[in-house]
Amino acid sequence: MMIQSVSAPTLPRLLDATHPSALADAAQALQAGAVVAFPTETVYGLGGDATRDTAVAAIFAAKQRPSFNPLIVHVAAPKQVEPLVIMTPQAKALMAAFWPGPLTLVLPRHPQSPLSRLVSAGLETAAVRCPAHPVAQALIAAAGCPIAAPSANRSGAISPTTAAHVRDSLGDAIPLILDGGACRVGVESTVLDLSRDTPRLLRHGGITAEQIAAVLRQAVAPPPDHSTTLLAPGMMLSHYAPRAQVRLNASTAEADEVLLGFGPTAGAALNLSPSGDVVEAAANLFAMLHQLDTGGVATIAVAPIPEQGLGLAINDRLRRAAAPRPEEATHHVA
Ligand code: TXA
Ligand code: MG
Repeated sequence: MMIQSVSAPTLPRLLDATHPSALADAAQALQAGAVVAFPTETVYGLGGDATRDTAVAAIFAAKQRPSFNPLIVHVAAPKQVEPLVIMTPQAKALMAAFWPGPLTLVLPRHPQSPLSRLVSAGLETAAVRCPAHPVAQALIAAAGCPIAAPSANRSGAISPTTAAHVRDSLGDAIPLILDGGACRVGVESTVLDLSRDTPRLLRHGGITAEQIAAVLRQAVAPPPDHSTTLLAPGMMLSHYAPRAQVRLNASTAEADEVLLGFGPTAGAALNLSPSGDVVEAAANLFAMLHQLDTGGVATIAVAPIPEQGLGLAINDRLRRAAAPRPEEATHHVA
């Protein structure tokens, strides 16, 4: 239902989460592949079906990010993460202690994980969290799929803690906002990387390092020092890099190359978007790079992608993949 009659037809629908039909409407939108802003106990999230590349691409498009960041996958209950990521005893202990709640765990993707590759920005890990907000839990349960959700603000803006913040920041970029009032915590969740030898904090948040260390009976490494790591060459080359070389702005494939097309591309092994749609291309990017990379080819040649909309993020990712990288610089930093 619409509780606010909008003056401009472009503004998103604002649904009162306490209204009986609101959750069903929002869940239906998610099932249809649309994005929906919804409250969590930390901040409002901009959600989409985490198993569908096109829904995840729509999140990036709405946020207008010039690059791809891996997104947090939200579940309604701890059991829902089992097919998504590889569980460890440490993960189980932390979930038992802090879920539902503001703790996000980075774990290796399950080999058969149904999660979109775009949700991980091509990494072999995925971040999972079970939010404590009853509206978030009810929405995810009703949608019946894990929900990818970054904070529901335009890239570079501060995180929204009310539905009005979301509307002001994202305006006509999203169709639907589920209004559940002000967020209780107000800062984003703690992000903990459990995919490596030692647990490492990637972002401070509601659950402290001391609380985590007490449960694990083990020290937790502090977040990387951005003042120094940002200066380290190649630091931001952190995400997925194919084993093959990558050559940009290619019109044809040389010997030892496969061509990844965009728009009408003759001789392409795969095409990111035959119609030249950058959102479709973003949805296909990581899945297609992985597919071409497993064939043992020396070089993936990529057709030119326009520098507009999600094309900026695609080109950013491709340039990183094409750049020479020192080995240690492949370490991901949040
Ligand atoms: O409280 C929150 O966490 C909110 C609400 C909506 O749940 N979400 C949120 O999402 O803050 P976002 O996208 O704004 O921040 C996600 C953080 C980023 O720092 C990202 O780099 C990190 O989690 N992250 C996600 N997946 C990761 C992965 N596979 N490896 C390392 N870091 C990851
Ligand atoms: Mg954010």
